[in-house]
Amino acid sequence: MLYYAACKAAETVVYLSRKIRIGIVGAGFIAAAHYDCAKTVYGSDFEITGVTDIISQKAASFAAERGINHFGNFTEMLAKVDAVDICTPPYAHADNILEAANAGKGIMCEKPLLGYAPDKKDWDDFNGMETSKELMLDVISKKTNAVYDAVKKNNTVFTYFENFVYTPQVQKEAEIVKKTGAQILRMTGEEAHKGNHAAYSNQWKFAGGGSLISTGSHPLGAIIYLKRVEGMARYGKPIRPESVSARIHTLTKCKGYDDKGFLRCDYHDVEDYGWAHVVFEDGTVGDIIAGATVLGGINDYVDVFAANHRTRININPVTLMETYNPKGAQFDDIYINCSITTNEGWLKIGMDENWLFGYKAEMQDAIECLEDNKRQPISGIELAADTIMAIYSGYLSSERLGQEVKIEKIGG
Ligand SMILES: NC(=O)c1ccc[n+]([C@@H]2O[C@H](COP(=O)([O-])OP(=O)(O)OC[C@H]3O[C@@H](n4cnc5c(N)ncnc54)[C@H](O)[C@@H]3O)[C@@H](O)[C@H]2O)c1
Repeated sequence: MLYYAACKAAETVVYLSRKIRIGIVGAGFIAAAHYDCAKTVYGSDFEITGVTDIISQKAASFAAERGINHFGNFTEMLAKVDAVDICTPPYAHADNILEAANAGKGIMCEKPLLGYAPDKKDWDDFNGMETSKELMLDVISKKTNAVYDAVKKNNTVFTYFENFVYTPQVQKEAEIVKKTGAQILRMTGEEAHKGNHAAYSNQWKFAGGGSLISTGSHPLGAIIYLKRVEGMARYGKPIRPESVSARIHTLTKCKGYDDKGFLRCDYHDVEDYGWAHVVFEDGTVGDIIAGATVLGGINDYVDVFAANHRTRININPVTLMETYNPKGAQFDDIYINCSITTNEGWLKIGMDENWLFGYKAEMQDAIECLEDNKRQPISGIELAADTIMAIYSGYLSSERLGQEVKIEKIGG
């Protein structure tokens, strides 16, 4: 981050460089990955100053393991940093974004932008599946507008950590779309696995929903991003999502579900399968699948069907390296692949997943933007807002058994 000191005597302006200080909120799974990725960022002068967590012991041990500070709460940390890295569950994102933006700080925010949670006084009896989705969409619209306005009003450098966007594969497709002036007619995308690792994610009040928001936000983010890229290249303005039809189901609660112990199935009030059909402003479409009932590792892809080309983007699994292991025990201390449940037989090895999944690139982009303060990240508040509005419009559609719902365009 640059700031200047006027040297009045010499009547010159001297630019001094100052280390960017970043504070992490939420000392869990993704915070650890962010910290590792920050270590790989090049060409910028910055530090991870410290961390805070609602469970102070978690912040303390995260900090001690990495030799950084831990802070008692978010407000205390905010005063000591230039930017915050929001790694909490979705229910907590909006308040931290508003506080940081209004304090003039930079923001990195994990997906999704935010989530619906009731007032704290109503938490005990809350059931997300049984709550009106019209009410939820109304609240999400107000919150998204508030967050969007705060970020814009304060000229906040806001990076939306949608890692699909930052994968080398999606970036390569973005280059093809831009350089060939491609028109994307339809896309199909998916993220699915055997169930989210995070304990909180089986409850709507923390996660803001189930598969549709938790895993569906990834392929949705990617397809909305690619249509933005197409729009900028062809018309100088993004092509945005216009409407959505969606369904959600909790398959592990179906009649006679046969639990063999491989899939997570302790869902309190969220779905473990979601499907959404998005229609864009230009009449083209994208279909996404989101799920937590898939074995064989995390299932991440985006297929692009354009008028001038066709791309299959494999994010995971990929076949950079395949190994046959006849006996599991041999590989007990060898990392195989994200969410895989066996280390026997033919194995698709996950290579440098922080790179492959786009985690390193999103951190690089966020920190470069904080430093140079002139350009905005490739994944910003606009993408975050369109994605969350598509998701909650999708929840309303599902409540109406798949009826099409118009998506409000935040920011006009
Ligand atoms: N991009 C990806 O691939 C990816 C993967 C996993 C998680 N995520 C996202 O990262 C975020 C966190 O997920 P996670 O898997 O790291 O969860 P986690 O449960 O491992 O960690 C969350 C941490 O936040 C803390 N926390 C909860 N409420 C808080 C509050 N109000 N204030 C401060 N700390 C609070 C918890 O104590 C916990 O330590 C979510 O938004 C999730 O969607 C993204």
